Formats: sequence, C-alpha cells, structure tokens
Amino acid sequence: MNFFIKKCLLESEETDCIVLAIFESCEFSESLNYLNKCSNNYIASLVKLGDINGKIGETLLLYNVPNIISKRILLVGCGKKNKLNISRFKKLIKNSIKVLKKYSIKHIIYSFSELIINVNNNIYWIIRLILLSIEDSCYNIFKENSIKKNNFNIHDVVLNVLIKSDLYYAKISLQHALAISSGIQSAKNLSNLPPNICTPLYLSGEVKKLCKKYKRNISVEVIDIEQMKKLGMNAYVAVGNGSKNKPFMSIVRYSQEDSNVNKKTIALVGKGVTFDSGGISIKPALNMHYMKYDMCGAAAVYGILTMVAKLQLPLTIIGILSGCENMPSGQSFRPGDVITTMSGKTVEVLNTDAEGRLVLCDSLTYLERFSPDIVIDIATLTGACVTALGESISGLFTNDPELEKQLYFAAEQTNDKVWSLPLASEYQKDLISNIADLSNSGKSHAGAITAACFLANFTKKYKWAHLDIAGTAWKSSRTEGATGRPVELLCQFLLNQLDNYSFSQINK
Ligand code: BES
Ligand code: MN
Ligand code: ZN
Repeated sequence: MNFFIKKCLLESEETDCIVLAIFESCEFSESLNYLNKCSNNYIASLVKLGDINGKIGETLLLYNVPNIISKRILLVGCGKKNKLNISRFKKLIKNSIKVLKKYSIKHIIYSFSELIINVNNNIYWIIRLILLSIEDSCYNIFKENSIKKNNFNIHDVVLNVLIKSDLYYAKISLQHALAISSGIQSAKNLSNLPPNICTPLYLSGEVKKLCKKYKRNISVEVIDIEQMKKLGMNAYVAVGNGSKNKPFMSIVRYSQEDSNVNKKTIALVGKGVTFDSGGISIKPALNMHYMKYDMCGAAAVYGILTMVAKLQLPLTIIGILSGCENMPSGQSFRPGDVITTMSGKTVEVLNTDAEGRLVLCDSLTYLERFSPDIVIDIATLTGACVTALGESISGLFTNDPELEKQLYFAAEQTNDKVWSLPLASEYQKDLISNIADLSNSGKSHAGAITAACFLANFTKKYKWAHLDIAGTAWKSSRTEGATGRPVELLCQFLLNQLDNYSFSQINK
C-alpha cells in the first residue's frame, strides 16, 4: 500500500472512492460541504432520505455523484463534531476500511484533514492516525489467503490536506507514521511466527539482518551460552539450558551522527522467551501454544529499532533481545536449585515457570556496562498482570517519577495505555528465601508486583521502567494474534525525547 499527501482538487480527482466525514444530525464536514456544492446539492438530497445520521459506525456509499469524477463517495459517521478524540477517530477509520475492503477499490482519497481531535498539532495526528489505523486494519497473519478471500486490493491512499501551510507537518507525520507502522508490523510478524521457526537463534539472525540494512547506525553483538557462562549469567543460562534451542542474547547499538544532540543513552530490553512450556514446573496443556508469544517483548524492541533506524533519529539506543526457550528435559534447571546471578545475588528457584525474571535479571545487570540513563524492559511477565489489568492496558512499574510521567504522556498520545502498579518495599518480603538472597516466585497474591519487585533488585543503578505486556501483546482469538504493543507507545516516548530537535533535520 502506498500513501501520499496532497492538496487535492476533490471534484476532479480520478479515484475509486473519496472518503468524507459526516457528523451527527447530518452535519457536513468542510470537504463534504464543498463536494455537495460541486454536485449542486445532490449529496444533500440523498442524505435527506435518512439513510445516514452521522453517528459513529454509520457509513453510506454513493455512486454517480454529478460533477464529481470519483467513481464513489463514502460518507463516514463521525459522531458529535466536538466530541471527536483519538480512540473514536481510530474506530471510524476502521469502519471505513471495513466497507472499502468489500469492493474492488484500488485508489482512495481520505479528506479528513479538517477534523479536530483536540490534540496539539492536529494535522500531524490526523494523518498519523489515518495511516496507522488503515495499516492496522489491513494487517493479517494469514496474509495471502485473506487477500484472495476479500479480493482486497487497495493500492494507493491519498490523504487530502485542505490548507497549504499544513502540508509541512502532514509530510512529517506521513514519514513518522510509515516508520512506526513498519515497526509495529515487524514486531507483529516476528511475534506471530511459530516457535519451531522463531527460536532464540532465529531472533538473533533477524537482528543481524536489521544491522546489515542499517550498518551505518546499527551494530550488533550476539552472546551465546558459552559467553553467558563466562559472564556469570547463570540465571539466564539456567532457563535456556533445558532446550535444544540454546539461548542467544542480541545486543544492538544504535546511534546517528547527531546523536549527541540528545546526550542520554536509552536502553530497551525485551523478554524473548520463544516458547515458555513452564519447564519442569510445566504449564497445563490447554492454551500452552500461546506461549509462543512469550517473546513479544523482544519483538517490540526489534520493531522500535526498525522505526528508529528508518527515521534516523538522533538518539543513542541500546536494544537487547533476550532470546531463550524454557523447556523440560534432563538438562533443565529444577525447583529447588540455587543460582548465582551475574549481579552476585543468589536466587532460589521455586518455580521454573517464573523464568522471565531470571532471563531479565541477568540482561539488566549486563546492561550496566553501557551506563544507560534510562532502561525500559518489556516483558510478557505474569499471568497476574492479565488478571489485574486485562487485555487493554499494560502494567507499568518504575523507580523514577519523571519517567513515569513521560510514559503516561506517550500513552495518552498514542492510546497505547499503561497503568502504574506499585513497586512498594512491602512486597519484597514475598521474595524472601531461607537459603538464597531471593526466591524467584512470590508466595501469595499480587504476582505482577512481586515479579516487578524481583527485577527491582537488579536495576538500582539507573532510571528504570518495567512494562508487563502479558495481557496486551497478543489476542487469543483465532484471527487476531500479536498486537504490536507497546511499539507505538515507546516510539512516541522516543520521539518525545527529541522535542527540541528540529523536525526538519529528520531526513529519510
Ligand atoms: N510467560 C508467563 C506469563 C504469561 C502468562 C504471559 C499468561 C501471558 C499469558 C510467565 O513466564 C509465567 O509463567 N509466569 C508465571 C509466574 C508464576 C509461576 C510465579 C505466572 O504468571 O503464572
Ligand atoms: Mn513462565
Ligand atoms: Zn514466560
């Protein structure tokens, strides 16, 4: 699919369909008003028949509109004009695509740039939301089959911009949205792969490919099990040891010529458990296949790096994909084992299914060598987080209130929501072990919090946030699969770090 920004002369554009907004009680948007006049009130006369009111969810397809070259016009209900916001806007764009997909439509024009969604830099967000919502509704795990089924063939999407002075931000928005979208899609594609294909080695291979593509900005180092042993990463090794697919940790370093504009080093760490059987503390069979998604954190890091590299953002980023497979075998670690982590702290394993924190604690210690200013880990860490927050909101834990504020702000901008849970010291006592510094699993309730508290023991040297995406990274219905979250959230967080950096310096 190709996207274009253009200031169109709507009545004379040769296209398969022009998509226009209509508000509740048949209130016309500016573009609709304009085309209605061109059609000598023909559109108004059709609307008067009462087939559309303008509520969100409604659509009306018109053919043969006089004086208009476009083959079709699609009216899309946008609800009350002054009540439009990001989530409603996303919804109505998705409605429009649902309709357009049914027809043999190749070329579309969206004329939505005059809509107001109550954010700063309205035009930027309108363009970005249209693009991301369209790409999202067109993504499918079973890509090839569904293209045939739907006879879906939208090739070109033109985003009409009414005001000439808006073109500048519209074009930046297009660039950003394309990069973010490819970040989301590459995260989804990686996440949706079956676990016999997407192994820890495969993950590191994908990272190497990305590095090759952007070799001026990205370098990668892959650490295998032998090197992990030498580094003393015994917790990570313990988890990976039971599987024939050995663990690989990929460390990506991204920087750009102008990276010193922003002096911070930001590190992103993703849990990359390519399959979590639970190990010796094996999981029940029902739904175990979903544990192929236990690498969605690593996939998110990969997606974010894709976006950053595409936009050549002037940042310094360390990305770690902690690839590992948790399997039962004669070589597996056991409940009862005591392990010395890379930090020197000892951990008593009470449950081999609490493996994510073991892989992450050594990755978080390893990171110290880069003296990062900010570290964000992303992990499908606990079922308890799904119980607490469901599938809509990711759990956020942080030791820094300013970082918390920034993540909340990015979450609000992107609607990729987070909710803070406490890292309170009261919960540390659930991790007390009689024979080691810590145990790897909490004793009672609040499992998402005790998991985060476990990690907090290893993140004292930097500002740190932990995102538990167990509920948000994938959807369990047959067709949905990975969501690509929280790629958009963190892409926006990174873009916000560059607020003082002139947009104009961002080239392709
Ligand atoms: N990968 C799972 C968490 C998970 C569960 C993610 C369900 C998505 C959906 C994690 O490794 C795990 O098994 N956690 C255990 C921890 C427990 C043993 C302390 C859990 O949440 O049950
Ligand atoms: Mn587990
Ligand atoms: Zn897991």
